Amino acid sequence: MTKNVRITPHPSFDVLAATTAARLITRLLDVQSERGEATVVLTGGSVGIATLRAVAASPARLAVDWAKVNFWFGDERFVPADSADRNAGQAAQALLDYIPVDPLRVHIMAAADQVADAEEAAARYAGELAGAARAEWEGKDDAATDTAPAVPRFDVLLLGLGPDAHIASLFPEMAGIRTKGVPVVAVRNSPKPPAERVSLTLETINSAEEIWIVAAGADKAAAVGLGLAGASEVQVPASGARGKVKTLWLLDEAAAAKVPAALMRVEH
Ligand code: 6PG
Repeated sequence: MTKNVRITPHPSFDVLAATTAARLITRLLDVQSERGEATVVLTGGSVGIATLRAVAASPARLAVDWAKVNFWFGDERFVPADSADRNAGQAAQALLDYIPVDPLRVHIMAAADQVADAEEAAARYAGELAGAARAEWEGKDDAATDTAPAVPRFDVLLLGLGPDAHIASLFPEMAGIRTKGVPVVAVRNSPKPPAERVSLTLETINSAEEIWIVAAGADKAAAVGLGLAGASEVQVPASGARGKVKTLWLLDEAAAAKVPAALMRVEH
């Protein structure tokens, strides 16, 4: 187990969502107090969206300056913009429509009725990420590199987990999880419908300061066990997720069932 991986079980799905929401609010407040703004990458999936609903229900949300939060998405389904399948639409219904966000800071991946294909949606998102990274880099008087990075700083990147240990829309053995050198990739033949998607690549995911993998349900226990056992990222994409500073596995007890007790709750 490498450094700064923490596994925390929660007694139920609802407690997991409420606790992750509280953790997210606190993290955004801490980052805003340091940097004036904060950046979160949202995820689709049951726990990811339930977490957003829990943020919307929390009085503590009123402490966050939402107009100074940059929202990105880890992946998106390449379907029409008004489809109920869209992660952006689910995130809006769960939270974004109920907090005073700055629309210019909410970065949504293009939909199937807005661009020709998923490749174009991926290219556009890569361009948006690069533009945000350049703006951040130009704003820094102590830029660490002489050229801007490909993506901006992500303070928290949320990931759901599939029963096959997929993260975002990076599925075992498929092209997406093998893709390097580009920040965003088009996905076809996704084993999880809908078939066409757009996803951040693993390199981009791992550029995040903190990655929080959120999973609930007995059907995720094997994926969690494999993800923590150091398997190859191509076979077990979740095992490749590693935040620069911290990686949290936030689980309900059912999803944590195959995690050795020795790995629980201990900072590694
Ligand atoms: C998506 C998600 C995907 C999801 C997992 C877990 O667009 O489908 O980004 O990665 O988070 O499949 O989803 P559930 O929690 O609903 O099983």
